[in-house]
Amino acid sequence: MKGLIKQHHRIIPRRPVFDFTGTPSHWIYDDPLASQILNVINPITPAPERWFCQTFRDALPLIQDEQLKAAVIAFIKQEGAHSHGHTLGTRHIEALGIDLSQYSQLMNWIFHDMLGQKPFGYELRHSALKLRWLQTRLAMVAAAEHLTGVLGHWVLNADGLQQAPVDEEMLRLLQWHGAEEVEHREVADAMFRHLSNNMLLRTTTAVVTFPLFIILAYIAVETLVAKDPQLPQRFRFKDYLRAARQDRVPRVGYVLAACLRYFNPKYSPLHEGSTEQALAYLNQMPAFKPA
Ligand SMILES: [Fe+2]
Ligand SMILES: [Fe+2]
Repeated sequence: MKGLIKQHHRIIPRRPVFDFTGTPSHWIYDDPLASQILNVINPITPAPERWFCQTFRDALPLIQDEQLKAAVIAFIKQEGAHSHGHTLGTRHIEALGIDLSQYSQLMNWIFHDMLGQKPFGYELRHSALKLRWLQTRLAMVAAAEHLTGVLGHWVLNADGLQQAPVDEEMLRLLQWHGAEEVEHREVADAMFRHLSNNMLLRTTTAVVTFPLFIILAYIAVETLVAKDPQLPQRFRFKDYLRAARQDRVPRVGYVLAACLRYFNPKYSPLHEGSTEQALAYLNQMPAFKPA
């Protein structure tokens, strides 16, 4: 039952300052649709990442390894900052006239009421059941963190997006988050392997978690596009394919291939993305407040 942190760098919590005053909802100036697809990151992030933090706080007393414990504490601080950053992003989109309150309620219901400490509001009294539910949540977090890591890697390498005419502040929010996802990508996997390492649980929860996040992302895109007064029609898949060809949004194939890699018995989060690249980005990023 070992799953220790293998990277030697210390994970650093950061609190960048963002000012979206001048950011339009179509922040890729010539591409409203790609803007709304990437805007999904704002409403989809806060509730699950608060749930990651709660799950890891619940598991903290069980950790037997000091290095892992330090990494988990830094992870919690990073995810808390991401949740806050994207809450600001969500409020900004709402201030521009797109009501996301129903979507946020759905997310809070799933990640607080349904998947929180009390599943579906049911109080777990038996300690063995409590532990099994915690292990289940840790397995789900590990699967979700695989996705956030590969999407973080995408955003750091998306030439199409970086060459597009964009609002730098929103791009900075995405890249900061993406880089920290790559930086801490081994923590949730190590945590699960340390406290459970049940491969059946890992596989079954991933089979649920990947589609769950893909469906929630799709609902968010539909919501953003349908409520955008400047977009004439609802979300069309062919518009998404065009944006993906331009490397302004992640390709379906990129995301699906990443999901499948998770089931490889030799999977390691360290085979995904580059810590050096993530740190190179984070080390040059200005305007951090102390966390
Ligand atoms: Fe995050
Ligand atoms: Fe993360």
